[in-house]
Amino acid sequence: MIERTFVMLKPDAVQRGLMGDIVARFEAKGYKPVAMKLMRIPRELAERHYGEHKGKGFFNGLIDYITSGPVLAMVWEGENIVADIRVMMGKTNPKDAMPGTIRGDFAQQTGRNIVHGSDSVESAKREIDLFFNDYELVSWTRSVDPWLYE
Ligand code: RTP
Ligand code: MG
Repeated sequence: MIERTFVMLKPDAVQRGLMGDIVARFEAKGYKPVAMKLMRIPRELAERHYGEHKGKGFFNGLIDYITSGPVLAMVWEGENIVADIRVMMGKTNPKDAMPGTIRGDFAQQTGRNIVHGSDSVESAKREIDLFFNDYELVSWTRSVDPWLYE
């Protein structure tokens, strides 16, 4: 199934100059970019995005972190992409993330784990709606698609 997912490079990824390395991994895998924007997330949007964690001990620190600088908000498309990008990201705690994953290669602590990816198709729809307008989502045909999908 071709799906869309919401991926966000967190402020530490932007500050550390890792945007290009991470985007390159998604491109090399064959995923198709549908939307990208550099933005500073308003606190209210951050609280809605991470609403499932409201009330947990790490919530305020998480909102401080995610609003502390620009993020790169993105939508990517591909076969089974929602689950597969979570595998590419690695475990939430970078100490448990395998080498070869984004968090395993580039991060050290849970509170600075550099990337967010939707955890289900339903979350992806909710998060894409939260961050993007319809006109920002670009549906396009790529000439290499027949070399990725038979
Ligand atoms: P994300 O939503 O950012 O993609 O991360 P995730 O699904 O792997 O992990 P989740 O459980 O949804 O947690 C969201 C983010 O909150 C921070 N966190 N801190 N200190 C802690 O115990 C703790 N637990 C979670 C992390 O930044 C995590 O990515
Ligand atoms: Mg999550």
